[in-house]
Parts: sequence; structure tokens; C-alpha cells
Amino acid sequence: MNSRIRFDYNNLMQDRLGTGGIVYSEMETAGTLAAEASRWFYTKRDAGKMDFFDLPDNQEHLKASLKMAARYKGKVDDLVVLGIGGSALGTIAVHAALNPATYNCQDKKSLKGRPRLWVLDNVDPEKLKAVLSLLKPRRTLVNVISKSGSTAETSAQFLWIRQWLIKSLGKNWVKNMVVTTDPVGGIMRQIVTREKLPSLEVPAGVGGRFSVLTAVGLFPLAMAGADIKSLLAGAAAMRKITLTENPWKNPARLFALTQYLLYQKGYRINVMMPYTDSLYSLADWFRQLWAESLGKRVNNKNQLVETGPTPIKTLGATDQHSQLQLYIEGPRDKAIIFLRVEKFRNDISIPRAYSAIGEISYLGGHSFGELLNSEARATAMALTKNSRPNCSFIIPEVNAHHLGQLIFLLETATAYAGGLFGINPMDQPGVEEGKRYTYGLMGKEGFENRKVEVEKFESGRSEKYVV
Ligand code: PA5
Repeated sequence: MNSRIRFDYNNLMQDRLGTGGIVYSEMETAGTLAAEASRWFYTKRDAGKMDFFDLPDNQEHLKASLKMAARYKGKVDDLVVLGIGGSALGTIAVHAALNPATYNCQDKKSLKGRPRLWVLDNVDPEKLKAVLSLLKPRRTLVNVISKSGSTAETSAQFLWIRQWLIKSLGKNWVKNMVVTTDPVGGIMRQIVTREKLPSLEVPAGVGGRFSVLTAVGLFPLAMAGADIKSLLAGAAAMRKITLTENPWKNPARLFALTQYLLYQKGYRINVMMPYTDSLYSLADWFRQLWAESLGKRVNNKNQLVETGPTPIKTLGATDQHSQLQLYIEGPRDKAIIFLRVEKFRNDISIPRAYSAIGEISYLGGHSFGELLNSEARATAMALTKNSRPNCSFIIPEVNAHHLGQLIFLLETATAYAGGLFGINPMDQPGVEEGKRYTYGLMGKEGFENRKVEVEKFESGRSEKYVV
């Protein structure tokens, strides 16, 4: 039986924090808003706009991903994922959590038939070239991931790596590529049909940043040996809990509601601070989920609101020596979200030595995990004493089941927070706006006026440069 992750909200409440904390009666008063948000959530879900919510119980994507992974098992040395935003961050997060940081440095024997994994989520030519110089086309599988099929960064990478494959493999290049995209629409789907490329589907009703539990994440993760069955089982276990209306028994709702109330009190920055390197990329994934979903200009009534909390990622204990001073004594605008691990998969005990020198000998006999956890507790205490709201997700151990629970909890909380803020968490009109200007600047047909607009805007500004 798998244990559950826990949400500790105590250091958000007034009885611990004093002024600035949430009063229990505020939670009760917010009940009406929460009930409204809940109704909104279920209406959206019934309209097929929250399909991520039903993914844990859907075996279809799991089966398709496992089948595709079995097809390439042992046949490739490297897997290159091309994708950006929601098409990459979930894979990076789960891979970093479940596999060692040195995964790609292992020799073939240690990798046991699994390929090295390279998620290229940017178009920086220097990095792209450096990675490619390590790979052999014949032994490389490329997974192009784009839900829309039209994202400029991913399309450019596709064109570039396709050419690289063709140079070595000729018309057999198609054997070394799998495309994950919309089931019917978009350019990538057209290319799949035209080239007869193997493909996987991103369900139409699942947004990019909510798609890690579809083939978007499941296929590359299965290739890298992650236990994707447990990942989904963990999400399914959390799904059951998130069906509870009572926020005190539903951590996704409690998290969304407390962060919403803190936002109203001026705590507009959410700092996610894992106390383990393995979850640092999860904070990156959450950063996108929270920011892109909740940062909106207009609300559901089309009124100007310009709302949304700003998520930040910070690493414990490293950033205690970089950021913590600001969090403890700077502006009262941050709520800290710790990710704490109870048991480290591999711990190291600190040797006893220098018994006569108390300044160092006190560490002997403890473990590094103990040190990290003591630092997390100490940071929580220091923040609370200075009336700085902080909460913790407590993870018994980093494994696929707990990760599935946490991912699903945070996704549901984000959707639910959308209801509380009264905005649509599923769209990203601001991002789309930027994409259109890029199309114009890169010469895409139909976007010529965007190029003219940018050039006109930029002209005449050069005299302001300082050289
Ligand atoms: O969450 C989102 O919708 C975005 O971050 C997208 O995932 C990102 O823009 C990439 O889009 P696509 O998968 O269509 O290439």
C-alpha cells in the first residue's frame, strides 16, 4: 500500500503567523466563493474543458506509450525530445525526480537498455549543436512533441533534426522519429500522414501544461525507465481525494483556497522551494502551470482584472545562502511552498571526527538527509517567527506514485484556483500574441502585418541605446 503525500498548511494561519495570516473564519467566509468555484469547475469539466482531470483513470495513453516504448527498447542509445513549455517541462520534472542527476553519464551497462534522454526545450543553437555532436543518427530516436503542431521553436528543431537524420539514413529517417501531436488537426499531424511517421496523440481537451500524464510525458518517461504505471496510479489515488468538496479534506482545494486568500492579502508571489535537488525541476513545471494558467488580463465576465500570482522556484538548502534573507526580511509579498522529503532514497552519514572541536564535530553521526530536513524545518520556523506565510507538501519518499499524487494535486489546485480568481486557467492568449509576432518576424504567410508592426515600433528607438 502506497502512503500519501501530506499538505501542512499550519504556518499560513493567523494563530501561528500573527498579523497577515489566514483566520479560520476567513476560510469559512470564503466558502461561498469556494462553492461557486467548485460549480464552475464541474461545469467546465462537463463541457470537456478539464479533460486532464480524467487522465489518471484512462489507460489508453498508458497502453499506447508502453507499446511504442517496447518497439524501440534496446534499439536506440539516445532519445531526443523536441518540444517546449507544456510539451517538455513535465517530462524533465519527472525524469529528474525519478532518475539520478547523472543519468546521461552512465555507461550502457548501467543504463540497461534505456536510452540517454535529451529534452531540447529551447532553440539556442549552441546547445543544440553541442548535444547533437554526441549522438549517432542511426542509434537516435527523436520524439517531436507539439500539441498545436505549429510552434515555431519545435517546427524549426524538427526541420533541423530531420535533415540531420536524412544525411545519414536517407529515406529511412522516418524510422527514427515518433511524433506526439493532436489526433487530427495541425501541421505535424499532416506531416505524420504524409511521411507515414509513427505517432502518439495529445487529447484535444488536455492543455499543454496539463499533459504530462498523456503520451507527451508517458512515452519519453517510459523509454527512460520511469514507472509510468505507478505515476498514473498515484494520480488516480489523488483524484479520488480531490473529489471531496470539503477543503479541509481535499489538499488541492485547501492549497488553492489558501493561496487565493493570501493573494488578496498582498502575498502575490508564490515561491516553491524543494529541499531536494530531485524536485527542483518539478518547481519549474509548477512555475509554468501556475503562471500560464492564472496570469490573465480579463476575467470570465470579460472585465479587466490583470490578475495572477507570480511563481518563483528556489532550491533548499542552496538558496538559503542566496534568497532567504529577502524572504525573511524583505517585502511581505511572498508565500513559500516547501517540498519536503521524509526519507531520501540514498542517504550518507556524516563521519564522526575532530571530537575536541565542537564547531564541526556536532555534525558527526547525523546524515545529509537529516541536515537537509533540519534546514527545511529551521527555515520554516524562521519564516513563521517573522510572520512570513509558508506551507509544506510532505513527500514520504520520492517515487513514481508520490510524484503522480503531487502532480495531480497541483494540476487540480491550479484549475480550481482559476475558478477562485474568476479567470479561465486553460487558455494562454498572451503567449499566443507573442507567437503571432514571431511568425511575422520569421516570414510566415498571413502574419506580414505583425512584422510591419514590430519594425515600426522598434524604429526610431535606436538612439536610446547606450553603447
Ligand atoms: O501549456 C501550454 O499550452 C503551452 O506551454 C504549450 O505547451 C507550448 O506553447 C507548446 O505548444 P505546443 O505543444 O502546441 O507546441
